[in-house]
Amino acid sequence: MGRAVIISGCPGTGKTTLSSGLASVLNAEIISLGGLVEREGLYSQIDAERDTKVADLNRLVPRVVELIEKTRGNVIVEGHYADIVPSSFVDIVIVLRTHPDVLSNRLKAKGWSERKIRENVQAEILGSCTFNALKAYGSERVYEIDNTNLSNEEVVLVALRIIDEKPGEYRGGVVNWLSLLDVDNQLEKYFY
Ligand SMILES: Nc1ncnc2c1ncn2[C@@H]1O[C@H](COP(=O)(O)OP(=O)(O)OP(=O)(O)O)[C@@H](O)[C@H]1O
Ligand SMILES: [Mg+2]
Repeated sequence: MGRAVIISGCPGTGKTTLSSGLASVLNAEIISLGGLVEREGLYSQIDAERDTKVADLNRLVPRVVELIEKTRGNVIVEGHYADIVPSSFVDIVIVLRTHPDVLSNRLKAKGWSERKIRENVQAEILGSCTFNALKAYGSERVYEIDNTNLSNEEVVLVALRIIDEKPGEYRGGVVNWLSLLDVDNQLEKYFY
């Protein structure tokens, strides 16, 4: 059993896109948490207001562990709550970050409601996926890629570099939309 590469990040930051690019280079299997929850009915309730299914962690976590253990080669786990993977099964975590204005447009393109977009962009501004990853795995294993101005191919190359070299410039916590938006007086646009 190899330990997993975790790809986390708020909805729309590009986890599925990066995972498939990375998987073909690393010859890895992908465990997509959202897909798994949907396919195997591993949710405890449906949040109608947010139009999402609430994962049943009591069933999801052991199932993910089982799948990781079963995998012979490299394995990638992707999802915006990928910090549920038990620490001993995790090699490295890459959290994708996208500028709030760009993310907002990507979520609009998904046809999401204004409220759902706002809540998710707020989570991105506050860095909630990075926070959760740091809390679960500690700063040694958590890295971030701001993919706002990178092509899909460039994001894959940066991810490979992170996995191989663990460069300090990508350490979790380097992306800070909060202060960037604050300087430009843009926070009111998303927090109202
Ligand atoms: N580096 C990138 N540059 C430009 N657009 C991108 C990039 N990465 C992803 N996208 C686009 O952003 C959208 C969301 O990407 P993707 O579905 O991979 O995100 P996700 O994090 O898996 O979202 P979700 O959490 O909803 O599953 C897609 O339209 C994708 O083509
Ligand atoms: Mg996805």
